[in-house]
Amino acid sequence: MTYWHEALKGASAADLNVFRPVIFRPAHPADRAALEDLLKREPRLTIHDQLPTQLLELVKAMNPAVKFTLAELKQAANAHCGSVPSEDYGVWVHYPWSHRLVHLLDEQEFALVRTDRNRNKITREEQATLGTKKVGVIGLSVGQSVSLALAMERSFGELRLADFDTLDLSNLNRIRSGVHHLGVNKVVNTAREIAELDPFLRITAFLEGINEANIERFLTEGGKLDLLIEECDSVAVKILARQKAKAHRIPVVMDTSDRGLIDVERFDLEPERPILHGLVEHLDLSLAAKARTNEEKLPFVVPIIGLETMSTRMKASMLEIESTVGTWPQLASSVVLGGALVADIHRRIALGQFTRSGRWYVDSEELIADGPRNHDSTAPPSPDSKASLGLETMTAIAEALGGAAPAQPLSASTAEELVQAAIMAPSAGNLQPWRFLYHDDRLLVFHDAALGDSQLDDGRLIPAVDMGTCLENLRLRASALGVGVDIRPYPTNDQRLVALVEAVAMRPDTDALHELINQRCTNRRKGDGRPVPPDAIESMRTAARGVAGCDAHVITEPEHLMGMAELIGEAERIRVLNPIGHFELFEKEMRWSAREATAGRDGLDLATMELKKTEEVGFHIARDRKAMDLLAEWDGARGFMKMTRDNFRSASGLVLISATDASRAGLLQAGRAVQRVWLSATASGLSVHPCAAPILLAHHVRHGSGRGMDQAHRDSLLALFQQLCGAFGLQGHEPVFMLRLSHADAPTARSLRRPVAAFMHVNQPSPA
Ligand SMILES: Cc1cc2nc3c(=O)[nH]c(=O)nc-3n(C[C@H](O)[C@H](O)[C@H](O)COP(=O)(O)O)c2cc1C
Repeated sequence: MTYWHEALKGASAADLNVFRPVIFRPAHPADRAALEDLLKREPRLTIHDQLPTQLLELVKAMNPAVKFTLAELKQAANAHCGSVPSEDYGVWVHYPWSHRLVHLLDEQEFALVRTDRNRNKITREEQATLGTKKVGVIGLSVGQSVSLALAMERSFGELRLADFDTLDLSNLNRIRSGVHHLGVNKVVNTAREIAELDPFLRITAFLEGINEANIERFLTEGGKLDLLIEECDSVAVKILARQKAKAHRIPVVMDTSDRGLIDVERFDLEPERPILHGLVEHLDLSLAAKARTNEEKLPFVVPIIGLETMSTRMKASMLEIESTVGTWPQLASSVVLGGALVADIHRRIALGQFTRSGRWYVDSEELIADGPRNHDSTAPPSPDSKASLGLETMTAIAEALGGAAPAQPLSASTAEELVQAAIMAPSAGNLQPWRFLYHDDRLLVFHDAALGDSQLDDGRLIPAVDMGTCLENLRLRASALGVGVDIRPYPTNDQRLVALVEAVAMRPDTDALHELINQRCTNRRKGDGRPVPPDAIESMRTAARGVAGCDAHVITEPEHLMGMAELIGEAERIRVLNPIGHFELFEKEMRWSAREATAGRDGLDLATMELKKTEEVGFHIARDRKAMDLLAEWDGARGFMKMTRDNFRSASGLVLISATDASRAGLLQAGRAVQRVWLSATASGLSVHPCAAPILLAHHVRHGSGRGMDQAHRDSLLALFQQLCGAFGLQGHEPVFMLRLSHADAPTARSLRRPVAAFMHVNQPSPA
């Protein structure tokens, strides 16, 4: 071992918990002896003696109206000390942690000079009142900033500080300290800083932080607090501290260092006021103390921080936690601002100048800003301007059909039964874009572009799948009823008319898949990972091949599935980063509450998304387009991929439905095959979750214009598409749709449907 290593080992480490300065008054013999002893035994002491200047300032502060010359000032200072030798005047303060011995005026004179520039923003009387106040601070990041501001203004008589945490290097982006304080408790760090500013201020330290056992002591021992400043990270302590503060009628102030958010709760003036403005009243608060995981803490955290009102950068960062950032960001400028605001609020509360409770924002970005920009990238894409298909238009299309009357009339009641089954089909975003017209003994099936079209689907693959599944349900129901039907796809050039359904004499065989029509649903739950049984795979293939040119391709190996999860997750990420994709999912399709979902009986009920609490919060945050714009700029939002990855980790398989005919009519047929595979999987007891983003989005680029997408995303989607085709070994087959298969519990909620009457119009009722 080198001398250097030996010396390091032998050197004494600093005493981590010392924060009280030792004050010697040389006028007292005992102090004088102790000071002499210190000087003898502590060779490392450095002496700082600037008393003469302090005395000059004291004379000036005591005589503000007098214009002294320097000579007169010195004379007055000497006269002030009288016969006391300079060394014996005032106090000597020893700072053990830094080995400094500093010569200062004694408390009264020290305070007079140090707060002289406070006047008359704070009058002498007010300063005296503030000097009687007891203030508690829990949590010493923002709390340190507050404490220092309070100390600088000398606006307390006692400051109680609580934090169990020690200072880390990553705290030094916002906590004012020296690197030699790393590893020191944050209370100690703050108390030392205050002592170095003003050794006479009284600090009470709770180095263990706040808990059930010591909160009473913290609030009341040595006199009840006049104000509690709560700046800790723990929801349990936030709630406990407020419950107890409320019981003792102690007001609480909190700064949340984002957008200058300030909360004031005047339990002193409003003893019945619910804690946290009533935002957590609906929750079982006893659970806060038991909350360990983020899932358990979030119900409390969300109302406290206010998801909707967070800054855009904070929202975007929240979506990146555990992806590209470890935890939520916090800036020195916000923390310093918080310190200033809370110190100001404390002073006004203490002096009876401010009485309200509430939540305020001192958001400098909003208050001090450029004028509105010309180009607002966050303007939502204009919603589809297409007019909804009206009865008049449908009737005109029906009239124009002409042709001979069907040999076999389809009764209106049978038509209605068919429609009942048809509308149970799945549709993108559950937008149910179908319309039905019963006219001249036949049934016309329309697609209403105003309802269902996506602006990221120029090749119109989505309507093909929506309407194909709808037609297959219709056909299956007819088979069950024993009614022969001829379903003629796109009988005219008008794309709005998807099919003409006429009765035929031939009685069909019953297709057993019809039994699954009402059972089939989307189930986004995670599974138990059990494999898909071989006969289920075979049934799905057979079901797909029931439509000419169509097939089903199944992947089941876990490694292969995880590869597909990456691919699907990346496509889903591109969709939410794209302003149109984002708008369509978060604004057009999502229904954010059960009430919204039941009101229109369409769209995606949030409950059907099967999200964990943390994911649900992420979903709400992701709704903010500005936050997503930032993530697009950072090429972030990989949290969405994590969700897909998690889903696939527990999946049993992935089935891709393909078709040889990629024409409009061919894709419609393929939509039928999708429904048959879905029903077949349901019959095998499998849960089904569509995950076709890579196919649908690539289709927009391959067969449409790719408009609304930037070049980088178009290129990525084409590359993903190539990868997908390779993974499934597709040759000469157009991929149409994909379904994740799992063995999962029943879904928490199911998508609703509007009533038949909302879709179907009977123009000419047939006689029964
Ligand atoms: C063309 C199409 C695309 C779909 N895309 C997705 C998707 O990307 N993610 C998803 O979770 N569900 C997707 N779905 C499922 C629908 O949201 C679902 O079918 C609809 O909400 C109706 O619910 P149900 O299937 O339970 O009846 C899609 C369905 C269709 C027909």
